[in-house]
Amino acid sequence: MTKNITFLGIETSCDETAAAVIRENDEGTADILSNVVSSQIEEHKKFGGVVPELAARAHLENIEYIIDTALKQSGTAINEIDGVATTAGPGLIVCLTVGLNIGKSIAAFSNKPLIGVNHLEGHALSPGLNEKIKFPYLLLLISGGHSQYLIVKDVNEYEQLGTTIDDALGEAFDKTAKMLDLGYPGGPNVEKFSKEGDENFYKLPEPIINKAGCNLSFAGLKTAVLRESKKINGDVKLKYNLAASFQKTINKILYKKTKIAVEMFKKKTKKENFQLIVAGGVAANKTIRENLTQLSNEMNFEIIYPDLKFCGDNASMIAWAGIQRFKKDLIDDLNITAKSRWPLDKKAPYMKGPGLKL
Ligand code: KG4
Ligand code: ZN
Repeated sequence: MTKNITFLGIETSCDETAAAVIRENDEGTADILSNVVSSQIEEHKKFGGVVPELAARAHLENIEYIIDTALKQSGTAINEIDGVATTAGPGLIVCLTVGLNIGKSIAAFSNKPLIGVNHLEGHALSPGLNEKIKFPYLLLLISGGHSQYLIVKDVNEYEQLGTTIDDALGEAFDKTAKMLDLGYPGGPNVEKFSKEGDENFYKLPEPIINKAGCNLSFAGLKTAVLRESKKINGDVKLKYNLAASFQKTINKILYKKTKIAVEMFKKKTKKENFQLIVAGGVAANKTIRENLTQLSNEMNFEIIYPDLKFCGDNASMIAWAGIQRFKKDLIDDLNITAKSRWPLDKKAPYMKGPGLKL
């Protein structure tokens, strides 16, 4: 019997300092030996968003302790792991460099392979920690920096079907929270307060809902929220109504665009039985889950979400992506550098900026 692969994962791409030790089990999913996440929410709260230099300094201060804790909690010595996986992009270079450099050092002194993981691939494969996933599948990746529909053909093989042409969905949630003074982090607070409001009170725009395939756009919606938020004058009821109307509009957009993405996926793969995986920080949103689960029932496909603790940034998903890449011999050189931009589908057109035709 071959020994089950065990990896140390490290994640410092944004505002979570995280380390985890993961072992693949006989069922083909993961045993989480440890999963340590240190959030910097308190540091960034007063600025209403992530400040890169502050984030990098906090990573530097915490990373050794976090890795040490993850190893201790897992009961695994460094010589018992099979490799080190560390996020190499996309993200803030000053932050990525902290995790990447320490990952390189650990790999070098312990003579283990290093895998520089694409953070988006970490999210993409994250449901595999708990459930058996089947390639090819349709992925809706919704996080603070990305909003995309992709066909995941295999590990390292992605075809983009659609993406946002302006803001990411998490960004839209965060900005809405800021405009409504609902506190940081934005997404969970918009979700919480939208339950208190009337979702039909405001009629907000649904940008490009009837054009551009399954591409997404949230900038016009954000501008409308800004305009309405200026008229609220501290009226709490109106504030909650606006949060609720924003959440409802997002659900309507995702419902329609996912339907289109499903049709595109079926046409391209000729598959009727498949999984839709919804991953990334915004996949923690319960009404989005309910809304897309309803679509899956109507269109008859299987829908899978990562466990809530693996929706936001964590190192388990990085270790897991590392194990999957290691099994395919996708091992990196110690010279790899951090990348701020790193699309999963390298052939996908860049969908932002002036001159974009839809
Ligand atoms: O995946 P993630 O942790 O980091 C990135 O890779 O960007 O995603 C963070 C984003 C933030 O914008 C946050 O507000 C959003 O996910 N988010 C949510 C919820 N929980 C986190 N958005 C809506 N509803 C939530 N419950
Ligand atoms: Zn993320």
